[in-house]
Amino acid sequence: MKNIILTGERPTGPLHIGHYVGSLKNRVKIQNEGNYDEMYLFAADAQALTDNFEDPKKVKDNVFEVALDNLACGIDPEKVNYFIQSEVSELTELTFYYMNLVTIARLHRNPTVKEEIKLRGFEESIPAGFFTYPVSQTADITAFKANIVPVGDDQLPMIEQAREIVRKFNSIYGETLVEPEAVLPENENERRLVGIDGNAKMSKSLGNCIYLKDSEEEIRKKVFSMYTDPNHIKIEDPGKVEGNVVFTYLDVFCKEDSFEKFLPEYKNLDELKAHYMRGGLGDMKIKRFLNDVLQEELRPIRERRELLAKDPQKIYEILKKGTQKAREKARQTLKEVKEAMMLNYFE
Ligand code: TRP
Repeated sequence: MKNIILTGERPTGPLHIGHYVGSLKNRVKIQNEGNYDEMYLFAADAQALTDNFEDPKKVKDNVFEVALDNLACGIDPEKVNYFIQSEVSELTELTFYYMNLVTIARLHRNPTVKEEIKLRGFEESIPAGFFTYPVSQTADITAFKANIVPVGDDQLPMIEQAREIVRKFNSIYGETLVEPEAVLPENENERRLVGIDGNAKMSKSLGNCIYLKDSEEEIRKKVFSMYTDPNHIKIEDPGKVEGNVVFTYLDVFCKEDSFEKFLPEYKNLDELKAHYMRGGLGDMKIKRFLNDVLQEELRPIRERRELLAKDPQKIYEILKKGTQKAREKARQTLKEVKEAMMLNYFE
């Protein structure tokens, strides 16, 4: 069997470091390891419209922003077909056929959709397009016969639903589609990075994000406003490391040489944590350290992003080329799907 990798995101805003550690870093690593036959990445603009249909400009502008973020993080268009979902109309057609294979009750049970419905205040009246987006997501994955889908853990229910639809399709119409598997980042804290306020999720609507495009000064301000331990008032007080955002981030971003470079009086994170818990280590010091670590990681990304943003035409060329390739593949799968469903009258 071929190894085909696919992932994407809704272009509803510039990407933040939660996306970066939860998904972008992983996809760039997979890209560079090269252990695949085809790799696809896409802007899920049609899916973004399911809850932003009143704001098409926001979605359109963010296709560009998110492309900048991905390319700045190291996505290489020579290795990855980067496409725009709405430009591959085969995906919409597949969605229509897959709708038959899923019940309303099953869609209601999808925990991610449930949470999103609550978040958006859709309880009273859910737009049908939004409610059924897991089906469209199944089309995104299966159109390319993707077997590996690198995502953050909020996407697991989507992959599970896709697997069910694939199994049902294959059992009714014959072996046609490939069951996908999710690939998550290894580190627990990376899978869902907490917000700078300590909220379980970093999200634009909560205003607790650090963006990949943030300036040095913006990052610094955000780090120094981070939630730590509210009971750690005086430097001598013993502090809590658990639930302390600065330490959660250090767990994720600290590198082997970070201490040597920025805080040589400690050997490693365990030592720093022990001191904090014992008392005698102030928040300013750990924040200054985290700021150094974060700036080092984000600076090259921001600089590449600024460079790329100067040539929008080039970004659109990349997306256009990726979209053409994606279309070819999706057309072939749609043909197989329709044949399996006996929808081939004129051949
Ligand atoms: N639901 C994903 C998000 O919110 C985007 C997405 C759409 C996706 N289709 C996909 C991700 C297929 C992986 C595979 O970001």
